[in-house]
Amino acid sequence: MSNDVLTVEGLRVRFRGQPVDLIDGVSLSIPAGRTLCVVGESGCGKSVTSLAVMGLLPRRSATVTAGRIRFRGQDLLGLPEAALADLRGNSMAMIFQEPMTSLNPVFTVGEQVAEAVRRHTGCSAAAARDRALEMFRRVRMPAAEKRLDEYPHQLSGGMRQRVMIAMALANRPALLIADEPTTALDVTIQAQILELMRELQRDIGTALLMITHDLGVVAEIADDVAVMYAGRVVESGPVAQIFNAPQHPYTLGLMGSMPAIAGRAGRLLTIPGAVPVPEAMPPGCRFASRCPFAIPACDAQVPPLVRGPDGHAHACLRAPLEDHVGQDRTGDDRTGHDRTGRGAA
Ligand SMILES: Nc1ncnc2c1ncn2[C@@H]1O[C@H](COP(=O)(O)OP(=O)(O)OP(=O)(O)O)[C@@H](O)[C@H]1O
Ligand SMILES: [Mg+2]
Repeated sequence: MSNDVLTVEGLRVRFRGQPVDLIDGVSLSIPAGRTLCVVGESGCGKSVTSLAVMGLLPRRSATVTAGRIRFRGQDLLGLPEAALADLRGNSMAMIFQEPMTSLNPVFTVGEQVAEAVRRHTGCSAAAARDRALEMFRRVRMPAAEKRLDEYPHQLSGGMRQRVMIAMALANRPALLIADEPTTALDVTIQAQILELMRELQRDIGTALLMITHDLGVVAEIADDVAVMYAGRVVESGPVAQIFNAPQHPYTLGLMGSMPAIAGRAGRLLTIPGAVPVPEAMPPGCRFASRCPFAIPACDAQVPPLVRGPDGHAHACLRAPLEDHVGQDRTGDDRTGHDRTGRGAA
């Protein structure tokens, strides 16, 4: 019925020794050729979610306690490890934040890309090298042919990230997960890499799950956005909706951290406080203790993710927030909605 390449439904992940599921009912989907950006502050579970999709969670410490992960209709959680390994690097690829940890220092980068091609296609060594060279050219690796025979440490950070992209896309994956792929790079290189990923994605029709904490990257590349907070998706929808009509107080807070967007949305918002730790996870909305709009009900129940007809979904008992902002929207006292107002609201 759908052309979603990836569907995650009600995913829950628990780490050993922790009293609650850290990933607590995450649902996401990405159609072919589209880009979903997953945003949220450090520790909210972006990487854990993507590792779960790739089947790369540490087996000894992490357990998927509930949910489904479907890749082109196939249930990944039910797949044996060997079948998952066949998908990885082939129809499902991932780019990590720090390429040095994913590249092997003792092989040339050309060998590594060629090996990724050979492993999944069984083609000859010469054909795999040709393909590696072709990919190096496509990712605009400077002096592509010479670079094939160099080792990771001989390349700059931007070149290593190009190697990772070349390797990830060499087998034309249906799904690419990119976890902060440009964070370590300077701004010019970052823009080039994003443009490159977009171009290759257009050509191949890859569904892209892009993890970033950079709203500039989101504005640049996203079709859809999922905002995560403490292991839950608190808001999701088309990028324009998330930027122009955010519904969850946490999203409002995030927008406030990006001046260009905040300029459009109104005054800056700051979010005092910190993310709850697993040992003291509140039973209701995990954002409630930091939320200027919270009421007692927010502490008592987990707000369901409510999806509108336009695909915009939010998990906030207080939405739409306009009702509670009132004159403060134009005044200068928006953050005056603190916990002291809870009983009255
Ligand atoms: N192996 C592990 N054992 C216990 N807890 C873990 C483990 N790996 C991750 N966590 C916890 O899971 C939470 C989510 O981590 P995750 O790496 O997914 O965050 P993130 O959203 O990717 O953050 P960042 O933006 O910093 O990369 C964190 O609180 C982290 O401490
Ligand atoms: Mg991470």
